[in-house]
Amino acid sequence: MKRILLTGCAGFIGSNFVKTIASEQTDYEFDIIDALTYAGRKETIQEELNKHSFLQFHHLDIRDSSKIEKLFQERKYEGVIHFAAESHVDNSIKNPNIFVETNVLGTLNLLNASLKLFKENEAFRFVHVSTDEVYGQLTDDEPAFTEENQIKPSSPYSASKASSDLLVQSYYETFGLPTMITRCSNNYGPYQFPEKLIPVMIFKAQAKEKLPVYGDGKNIRDWIYVDDHNKGVWDVFLKGLAGEVYNLGGDSERRNIEVVNIILEHLGRSKELISYVTDRPGHDWRYAMDFSKARKELGWSPTVKFEEGIKKTIDWYLENKTWIEMVKGNNK
Ligand SMILES: NC(=O)c1ccc[n+]([C@@H]2O[C@H](COP(=O)([O-])OP(=O)(O)OC[C@H]3O[C@@H](n4cnc5c(N)ncnc54)[C@H](O)[C@@H]3O)[C@@H](O)[C@H]2O)c1
Repeated sequence: MKRILLTGCAGFIGSNFVKTIASEQTDYEFDIIDALTYAGRKETIQEELNKHSFLQFHHLDIRDSSKIEKLFQERKYEGVIHFAAESHVDNSIKNPNIFVETNVLGTLNLLNASLKLFKENEAFRFVHVSTDEVYGQLTDDEPAFTEENQIKPSSPYSASKASSDLLVQSYYETFGLPTMITRCSNNYGPYQFPEKLIPVMIFKAQAKEKLPVYGDGKNIRDWIYVDDHNKGVWDVFLKGLAGEVYNLGGDSERRNIEVVNIILEHLGRSKELISYVTDRPGHDWRYAMDFSKARKELGWSPTVKFEEGIKKTIDWYLENKTWIEMVKGNNK
């Protein structure tokens, strides 16, 4: 059995990874570490932890280098898939420091601990889960980002992710650590913390509250269903080449206002609930991903159409109010 470390799997994307991918594997053991910040709840993956003895949870902060070092030495991982991060752009504007501490220094701790294991086992692999936001923004007419685009982040969040990407790349170049970076567009789906656009709009629409839309609502994001992203991350872990970056995207560019309108329509609510609010400082205009490299080299492409995925997501939130109450409460 190969033993893999997963970080940040009490959060949105990682918990879905545990449910749809890690739980299905027969050749692997997975250790999960998570600091259980406001965005991470062990309850989200408790059912899987109860069911599968090959999934083990450790309550651990990636900023704690000595505990990370000790765990790596005890558990002798053969690979890491690194999801853990501070992930909310608005929070990064209010408090950038923790973004550097977790996203940059936390990643550095994992790289240092990984390097020691790589020296004992050359099959070791490290996948760093990153974001399209590191590329900065596009105009409406520019071609989608490829892996060759310059890194040009706009927010403290994307700058911290870009910094961690560069560190990861440097561990490949300098030490030969077999690292791979995935850069993915905006995810949506079940178990997303109710602070991001889609869950916020679903809750507000359902409660007939005003839906705050930044600026004129015309910013464009490329939306990907979370399971498609996770399949891409797993493909990169299994088949990706060391030192490479892989863009993953949903092939579903939508203006924010289009997304809000779909939610209102699905919930039978009036567009009068929309309230345009002062734009986020440094708000990127458009993201779009060219994922032809992942398609060609890994055989990966997204499978869920946006209209289908968003309906599934809205229905999931309506049917899972206890989960929402649990994550919004502070009863860890
Ligand atoms: N959500 C998106 O649309 C998106 C898109 C592309 C890439 N990503 C990247 O995917 C990863 C996961 O994103 P998400 O949306 O699931 O985020 P999330 O905020 O929902 O979850 C992050 C998880 O990391 C944990 N965590 C935070 N700080 C930690 C620390 N110091 N030590 C250990 N654990 C810690 C949290 O408790 C939480 O469980 C991030 O690296 C993010 O940058 C996200």
